Amino acid sequence: MIQLRLVMLAAATVAAVAATAVLAQTESALRGATPINSEGPAAPMPPPRNSADTEIRNYPEQPPLIPHSIEGYQIDLNSNKCLSCHSRARTGESGAPMLSITHFMDRDGQVLAAVSPRRYFCAQCHVSQYEVKAPVKNDFVDIDSLLNNTQSGDRR
Ligand code: HEC
Ligand code: HEC
Repeated sequence: MIQLRLVMLAAATVAAVAATAVLAQTESALRGATPINSEGPAAPMPPPRNSADTEIRNYPEQPPLIPHSIEGYQIDLNSNKCLSCHSRARTGESGAPMLSITHFMDRDGQVLAAVSPRRYFCAQCHVSQYEVKAPVKNDFVDIDSLLNNTQSGDRR
């Protein structure tokens, strides 16, 4: 019994040390040289990426990224700036792509005449992009690369 407890204690210690190491790594990347018990200066706001280019989706279900700046665009009970360009009736003059049909569906898949309330707050799913260097390393691999690896016999 005592031995089991010791093993469990050892395992917990190893886990805690590993977690601290990961945290320290992330922290140092995000905080720079600022010690953990003080607050550093806020980083300057990076410029938004503002182009007419379509951002490639990273996976098929991804809400498309917003390729333009949305600074000052209000979305509240009374108005929705996004809809002033993206709603069905406005796309003619704005040249913006219309919201797809899923934005008109309620949770039962019933298609409504107007944008569904659960799709009203656009920025819940769509985000604009900023010119930043990722502070933490990211080894995301596109699904096409994964599929290619599998097909070429790399089945680990
Ligand atoms: C002044 C008109 C205008 C407003 C307001 C506007 N957009 Fe756009 N949006 C566009 C146009 C035009 C495009 C097509 C790409 C381009 O020209 O930048 C676009 C592209 C997009 C796309 C990319 C679609 C795709 O298939 O890649 C998304 C997502 C989007 N906008 C979301 C939003 C959201 C969310 C808001 C509100 C926060 C918003 N837009 C406000 C005009 C507008
Ligand atoms: C709950 C998440 C969610 C919300 C909220 C949402 N969208 Fe989307 N949007 C998506 C997803 C997922 C897609 C891609 C699949 C699809 O078309 O349904 C998409 C696609 C789009 C597209 C591309 C349509 C096309 O045919 O290429 C535009 C433009 C867009 N959304 C604009 C908006 C605007 C404007 C709002 C706010 C009125 C909004 N979305 C709210 C998830 C969301």
